[in-house]
Amino acid sequence: AQTVARNQDGVVTVGGIDVQTLAEQHGTPAYVVDEADFRSRARAWRTAFGTEADVFYAGKAFLSRAVVRWLHEEGLNLDVCSGGELATALSAGMPADRIAFHGNNKSREEITRAIESGVGRIVLDSFQEIVRVAHIARELGKRQRVQIRITVGVEAHTHEFIATAHEDQKFGIPLAGGQAAEAVRRALQLDSLELIGIHSHIGSQIFDMSGFEVAAHRVVGLLKDIRDEHGVELPEIDLGGGLGIAYTSDDDPREPHEIAKALTEIVTRECEAAKLRTPRISVEPGRAIVGPTAFTLYEVGTIKPLDGLRTYVSVDGGMSDNIRTALYDAEYSVALVSRTSDAEPMLARVVGKHCESGDIVVRDAFLPADLAPGDLIAVPATGAYCRSMASNYNHVLRPPVVAVNDGEARVIVRRETEEDLLRLDVG
Ligand code: LLP
Repeated sequence: AQTVARNQDGVVTVGGIDVQTLAEQHGTPAYVVDEADFRSRARAWRTAFGTEADVFYAGKAFLSRAVVRWLHEEGLNLDVCSGGELATALSAGMPADRIAFHGNNKSREEITRAIESGVGRIVLDSFQEIVRVAHIARELGKRQRVQIRITVGVEAHTHEFIATAHEDQKFGIPLAGGQAAEAVRRALQLDSLELIGIHSHIGSQIFDMSGFEVAAHRVVGLLKDIRDEHGVELPEIDLGGGLGIAYTSDDDPREPHEIAKALTEIVTRECEAAKLRTPRISVEPGRAIVGPTAFTLYEVGTIKPLDGLRTYVSVDGGMSDNIRTALYDAEYSVALVSRTSDAEPMLARVVGKHCESGDIVVRDAFLPADLAPGDLIAVPATGAYCRSMASNYNHVLRPPVVAVNDGEARVIVRRETEEDLLRLDVG
């Protein structure tokens, strides 16, 4: 559904608008999100899972009020993991019962606000939190729907910082040693909690379905133990997010319908073997929905050829708008988008304007040798975890998010200004 093309002048157009016009009207750097593409990916996830499952978009990937409205209109639910994300969701009209609240260290205020506003579920992440949420719910005179997040002991094949199902880490309650079973025992004893299911999230940017297979097997094993011990069949299982996207042409992501089919089959098969009613499945894709739908538009500044090495191409942003290259060694591609060029390709490194040498956006890339200051270049697949992890390092202003659709561009998150920076500085 992505609507990228080049016009007769060789300028790239997206959503019916050329990038030259976008740069003139909105400045650079800018994140440009293709609304039609976002909606069609959200819809593809929704329809792939049908009415028997729920899709919770993971707001941490990128959240704004416009995005919340698109999700609501496309029939998706929302996963939030902080008071700020919850506030954004509620202020854009997402019904609270379609929100799941996550986090390993939710504050009392966050828990209180979540329960008061009526969120559909709180995902409990520790023994202490079971007691804390139960206590707050009781004080508020409510019975809160909850899931328990467990770590199933899977080694997901992804970067260490974003793998989350092995046991030696901060999220969830280990299945090992009967700890998850003990958590379930405690939750079931507390009247102010309604335990609706078990949650597992194994990591992020994953292509291999085998990790999900093992996770589903172990979660269903726990559901069976719960049935045997307590005589209750929990109605839901959440397998988290983490499905990978293509950052470069080497990556080969699965389509939502293939993922839905695989996950549904695994859970159904495991439940049949355990003689359990198949629970309602939910998933929490973030990156897989928003990641491919946006690119970052930069203007080329200083170009510095280093003989025998490579050419350093500086852009007007950098690690403050995309920390992923520095943080995870993430790979991106880049293209000249304001014109075509027949020049020879040169080995380039796209770097930012920050005061550190690790400020790299694209480590290795080929760009035409006639690249010049003022050219526009685009880095695709920056929809997830770029604006949401953006910083003000060096007091650089965070770029806007511009949504394009049907020949129209609309700012959905405006560019930061120096006044914005100074407003917080009250010393
Ligand atoms: N559900 C839970 C409980 C999660 O912790 C996450 C991501 C997701 C869903 C969504 O995962 P996704 O489908 O987007 O992979 N900043 C890192 C990614 C951190 C992901 C944290 N949790 C990055 O830029 O790659």
